[in-house]
Amino acid sequence: MQEKVLVIGHRGACGYAPENTLASIEKALSCNVNAIEIDVHKCKSGELVVFHDFTVDRLTNGSGEVSSFTLAELKALKVESDYQIPTLIEVLDCINKQCIINIELKGKNTATETAKIIQNYIHEYRWDYTHFIVSSFQQRELETIHTIDKNIVLGVLTKANLEEAVTFAKTIKAKAIHPNYALLSKNNVQKTKALGYKINVWTVNNVEAIERMKGYNVDGIISDFPDRV
Ligand code: G3P
Ligand code: CA
Repeated sequence: MQEKVLVIGHRGACGYAPENTLASIEKALSCNVNAIEIDVHKCKSGELVVFHDFTVDRLTNGSGEVSSFTLAELKALKVESDYQIPTLIEVLDCINKQCIINIELKGKNTATETAKIIQNYIHEYRWDYTHFIVSSFQQRELETIHTIDKNIVLGVLTKANLEEAVTFAKTIKAKAIHPNYALLSKNNVQKTKALGYKINVWTVNNVEAIERMKGYNVDGIISDFPDRV
């Protein structure tokens, strides 16, 4: 029997509100998602900010690398004319344990601060390890998390090769593989799950593709339109 698939809002619910903003997080929560995926970078003053691109050019009225701005400078930028870049802390406080957060370590040197924040929320605010999934394409960031805290649930992102992702996942005891949906077949999903890994697939927006992924028995579907899942 098909188990219930985890509904994961992508960059909040970025089909409906500007990606990775608090408005997008709130929209995802209003869709009753099981989890929300967001991207993090470390800015010049050291805080983790929630933003997808390595530069601010596509989404804001500024120009340059996210890592070259202080938090105050990033906060002064406008995202799609009306919104602000949030910090990871602001996003966590907005979610407030209402669902799982999938933190994608997008930028370099994000792992240590992410682990520290996760541990702080667990010890100070009674969050649980099950509220967090940390994923990344960057092997080094995932290795750092694994070294700091072996209880943090890890997901290995891949856009190119499921088998390579599994080989790496073994070395850091990751619980999940996060593949692009174009990599999947019923057969390779079955094989990967038989090895004990969860499969959370991205970014599936089209209803036919969503149904196909459900037919493959994936564990989670990351979508810009989580209400379609
Ligand atoms: O985490 C899944 C997905 O978000 C990875 O790709 O480019 O949307 O961050 P991207
Ligand atoms: Ca992402």
